[in-house]
Amino acid sequence: MIIRIAPEHPVSSSEVTPEWAYLNRRQWLGHTTVAASAVLGLGTTLPAQASTPGTRSLKASPSAVPGAMAMDKLTPLKDVTSYNNFYEFGMDKEDPAKRSSAFVTEPWTLRVEGLVGKPLTLGLDDVLRLAPLEERIYRMRCVEAWSMVIPWVGYSLSKLIERAQPLGSAKFVAFESAADPKTMPGVASSVIDWPYLEGLRLDEAMHPLTLLGLGLYGQTLPKQNGAPVRLVVPWKYGFKSAKSLVRIRLVEQQPPTAWGRAAPKEYGFYSNVNPEVDHPRWSQAKERRIGEDGLFAKPRKTLMFNGYANEVGQMYAGLDLRRFY
Ligand code: MTE
Repeated sequence: MIIRIAPEHPVSSSEVTPEWAYLNRRQWLGHTTVAASAVLGLGTTLPAQASTPGTRSLKASPSAVPGAMAMDKLTPLKDVTSYNNFYEFGMDKEDPAKRSSAFVTEPWTLRVEGLVGKPLTLGLDDVLRLAPLEERIYRMRCVEAWSMVIPWVGYSLSKLIERAQPLGSAKFVAFESAADPKTMPGVASSVIDWPYLEGLRLDEAMHPLTLLGLGLYGQTLPKQNGAPVRLVVPWKYGFKSAKSLVRIRLVEQQPPTAWGRAAPKEYGFYSNVNPEVDHPRWSQAKERRIGEDGLFAKPRKTLMFNGYANEVGQMYAGLDLRRFY
């Protein structure tokens, strides 16, 4: 993965202040008012800053899943949609927004198959209607040492997997993204052996925080953010959250992953955010929050499991996190 490393500075404790919490509560209350009125049928008005070409509004209510509502300040929509990685459209952070307009996301077919009693072939409307849509605010930590805070729309992936009736022999879940050379110019590059593949242990995939993402900022996913349906796993490095999913397959053996194949010594299967285990080429101890921090602002400390240790730590009890990075 190509990275630009931010300058290192000590992080002061004043980064987390009561004012933060206050401002974020205000911000979230404003946002949920919009979501709540949508649920009540009062009309789906988007938050003032939200309008990305090709998206439509989605009705959702605030999630009750423990840990699903981070109190951090949201990353502005313009940063979420204009600075990101989606290598199918190119290697630069600006490429996904600039080069994804020809990508066709409707109609869409998502398959759930493999070791299941009931394989599923779903259109986008089936996926959207499968479970009530929730708003969730997740901190997202990229392996390149930058982070964002994104208000997602979706529901727990477990709801979809349960619908397919997993067999007892299923131990892992494999994810496959779209790879259309006609509309995704980055697929011509050999940086990744396409399609983009990812994987989770079954218990990780079934964890309530693991989100089947269908939107952000109260609207359907912009193309550059993985439309129309993607994975969102907030305690892992961002590359685990595969975009534009076409296939979810339950399997017995640990599945191959795109970055695991491209650079096995650099990207392990677990990829849990861990400030104590550095990437071979750079530190993972700190991060730069996009949008909030200027280029010369102090990076903040990265938290174990990206701050979700209370919710997910138990899944890794007894696992050597240096070996299984
Ligand atoms: N999924 C696919 N199919 N292709 C990609 O290049 N990039 C990953 C992940 N999912 C990627 C992908 C990386 S490195 C990151 S940091 C996140 O998507 C970025 O997600 P975002 O656009 O929501 O910030």
